[in-house]
Amino acid sequence: MNIEFTLNGQLTAVEVPARTSLSDCLRHDLRKTGTHVACEHGVCGACTVIVDGDAVRSCLMLAVQADGCQVTTVEGMTPVTGLSALQESFHRHHALQCGFCTPGFLTTAHALLSAEPEASRDRIREVLSGNLCRCTGYVNIVEAVYDARRAYQENR
Ligand code: FES
Ligand code: FES
Repeated sequence: MNIEFTLNGQLTAVEVPARTSLSDCLRHDLRKTGTHVACEHGVCGACTVIVDGDAVRSCLMLAVQADGCQVTTVEGMTPVTGLSALQESFHRHHALQCGFCTPGFLTTAHALLSAEPEASRDRIREVLSGNLCRCTGYVNIVEAVYDARRAYQENR
């Protein structure tokens, strides 16, 4: 099927079999390999991307369902030079180790702070609880997201 969606700000056309997941379309057809895939069952959150403002599991969504949507991957959150405020905060707080889960945490946190720039630590913990990390123990990730709120509050 031929579909078209806005990917990281650029109108993008792609032909996919109807059964193709959005994660496979992004990684294999469009080479946005920052979107990681692990469980493929909606459990780990590594594949999270932002679709029309909401954080979604791209392994559970068909690519054809993204037709006409605005899709943002971790690549789309990254300025051409340097890091975004959220990425800088992850760096500053040492909120990653192997980094496999990081794109999913970044997209999840970006969707949260875009909608709720005043999110409390408890709210951040609640939202991030849907993402699994095998390395960090989560404390630094929560602190990094909490600390990045200022940038979202200023951009409101
Ligand atoms: S790969 Fe999609 S939630 Fe784990
Ligand atoms: S930093 Fe390794 S899985 Fe999260």
